[in-house]
Amino acid sequence: MAMQHDQPMVTTDRLLVVEDEAALYADRIAALCPALSIETRAPDAPDLVDAMGRANLLLAWTFPAEAARAAGRLEWVQSMGAGVDHLLAIPNLDERIPITRVGSGFGPDMAEYVLGYLLALSLRAPRAFDQQRQRQWRPYAARLLRGRTALVVGLGTIGSEVARLLRAAGLYVLGVSRHGAPNDAADESWGAHDLDCLLPRADVVVLVVPLTADTRHLIDADRLAQLPGGAWVVNVSRGAVIEEPALVAALQSGQIGAAVLDVFEVEPLPDDSPLWTMPNVIVTPHIAGPYAVDHVAAVFAENYRRLRTGEPLLHLIDRRRGY
Ligand code: OXD
Repeated sequence: MAMQHDQPMVTTDRLLVVEDEAALYADRIAALCPALSIETRAPDAPDLVDAMGRANLLLAWTFPAEAARAAGRLEWVQSMGAGVDHLLAIPNLDERIPITRVGSGFGPDMAEYVLGYLLALSLRAPRAFDQQRQRQWRPYAARLLRGRTALVVGLGTIGSEVARLLRAAGLYVLGVSRHGAPNDAADESWGAHDLDCLLPRADVVVLVVPLTADTRHLIDADRLAQLPGGAWVVNVSRGAVIEEPALVAALQSGQIGAAVLDVFEVEPLPDDSPLWTMPNVIVTPHIAGPYAVDHVAAVFAENYRRLRTGEPLLHLIDRRRGY
């Protein structure tokens, strides 16, 4: 990515950064775009609406609908994340405002998350931790991860990186993308319409697709039932890609042997969710993607340069596709 930050010394552009740690992003962006005037707010700041009314540029993960109503000057929104479903779902945000996402750079972290937790399952790490806490010396057998078949659903930049790392770890990888374009990250490349034929072959399903109208509840009770008994599910995309009650039932019956879940239909995961205490579930708090302040700031700066020089923005969202 060419990083030339030749913006004018003085600009009337006003960037609002909305995030709990907004100051971290603002510092990095100030260093890259010194002419920019920058404000920062937490998403629940009482004066967020006023700040939104002053901004013509926005960098955010998400923000409330009442702030969107005040965004009359906004020219462009840069998402802090790879996924943008939550931004597209904000009511009152003018559909003509271009939204860009962080297009690449999250793959290596997310691939390590997937491989790491799959190894934790195959090595039965949760059992080791429990036994250690209880000072129990009870040997048990682990089973190799190598040689199993992983179905990676979604072969964008993140999914391809996941596929590549799982293959390097000795898994046989079936990759599914929208149109099934050949992708050498996977052993086999298939299209979305082939999903049902592939499920019975998968020891592990890894979900890396964006949440769109097509992928909401992609993995429902019927599809869970098509997996071999005891298969594992890893979700690093969005909670709503899986029908959560169906997953809970499949985990309870043993149809699904284990799940690693970083994302949930409702976040934070509600206190009364059965997923918290299921012995065959690993819950993490939406951390599979990196907290990549430098990378996000660099993407912002490059897109800002493009905005002002009239070049096409990188990683522009197609609202009709939903990502
Ligand atoms: C993202 C995420 O979309 O971390 O970037 O979930």
